[in-house]
Amino acid sequence: MNKHARVDERPIPFIDLAAQRRRLGSAVDEAIARVVAHCQFINGPEVRVLETALAAFCGARHAIACSSGTDALRLVLMAWGIGPGDAVICPTFTFCATAEVVALCGATPVMADVEPDSFNLDPASCERALATAERLGLKPRAIIPVDLFGLPADHDAIAAVAARHGAMVLDDAAQSFGATYKGRKLGALAAATATSFFPAKPLGCYGDGGAIFTDNDALATRLRSLRVHGETPGDKYDAAHIGITGRLDTVQAAVLLEKLKIFPEEIAARNVVAERYAAGLAGLAGVPRVGKEATSVWAQYTIRLGGGRRDALSAALTAEGIPTAIYYRKPLHRQAAYRDFPLAEGGAPVAERLAEEVLSLPMHAYLEAAVQDRIIAAVRRALAG
Ligand SMILES: Cc1ncc(COP(=O)(O)O)c(C=O)c1O
Repeated sequence: MNKHARVDERPIPFIDLAAQRRRLGSAVDEAIARVVAHCQFINGPEVRVLETALAAFCGARHAIACSSGTDALRLVLMAWGIGPGDAVICPTFTFCATAEVVALCGATPVMADVEPDSFNLDPASCERALATAERLGLKPRAIIPVDLFGLPADHDAIAAVAARHGAMVLDDAAQSFGATYKGRKLGALAAATATSFFPAKPLGCYGDGGAIFTDNDALATRLRSLRVHGETPGDKYDAAHIGITGRLDTVQAAVLLEKLKIFPEEIAARNVVAERYAAGLAGLAGVPRVGKEATSVWAQYTIRLGGGRRDALSAALTAEGIPTAIYYRKPLHRQAAYRDFPLAEGGAPVAERLAEEVLSLPMHAYLEAAVQDRIIAAVRRALAG
């Protein structure tokens, strides 16, 4: 590049929700207005319609809408009766909510390492974490694999480990609703799957929201009760269980119904963006690889930069108006709230290295080719310098 050419420094959004709103036109406004008109703000008709649409979308028998991804995870652990003396295995390279819900139930999260290519739970480390739990006198009850950054974990290998130890699998698909593993969408794989509709997620609402997916009728009935204070079906003033306020607002369901209509096209657009990044950055930085058995919804596009180059690149991009993010600078076992919980034997060397090398670039379905070219050129320039 001509060194006298001016570099475009206009700020680029990391995720462009405004572009999505423009694409949706007045559809979302009208959907919200319908709820405001019928006034059924809790448990309105849109919630049931959304649950049916979500279940059909991912191929699960039941979808239970709820108040957040965190509550989706928590409700399942509550329904399974997980509590003190129980161990739940979590990857240490994840958002804290994965392990938080375990601790909130009074059980012990046992952290395991992740794989270097997928950033997802390493089945071998998961096996060691189960052995660690047993040695500590804890009962291994569940494994929570996370499909990080939109990419499914190695679900068959994790299911085999779980079966050997009599543990349940609760899939944390907060970042990955819409992704597939061996031709099936997440939601139809594990005994229970939790997702988040936080606005920045691939399918997000306009506030907090989440959902649980399961094929198990009894579990679905229990979850529907637990999300409304453990009510007895048909008599909300007779509590059958100790539950929580865990419902999804009708307004959020109405927003999600409109967004679900364009979600498949958005997933395809995200994949185009990911392919352009991979072509533009291969050889310069570690770019994510998606194996033949899975597809990603690209909640994040996360590259790896060894040799201490990550923070310098991030600073150079910021100077050019290009935002980046570091998910995650500290694995859970290094965070104050979680460092006293057990870590699998062998530690988590991969997670520790990832924490020093990962950098997420702007990623959304509306990232225009010209803007993406600017990002790729800036990365190339920074790394060349
Ligand atoms: C992996 C993972 N699990 C759980 C959650 C929690 O979801 P929510 O923010 O909807 O409670 C998140 C949200 O960022 C997440 O990334």
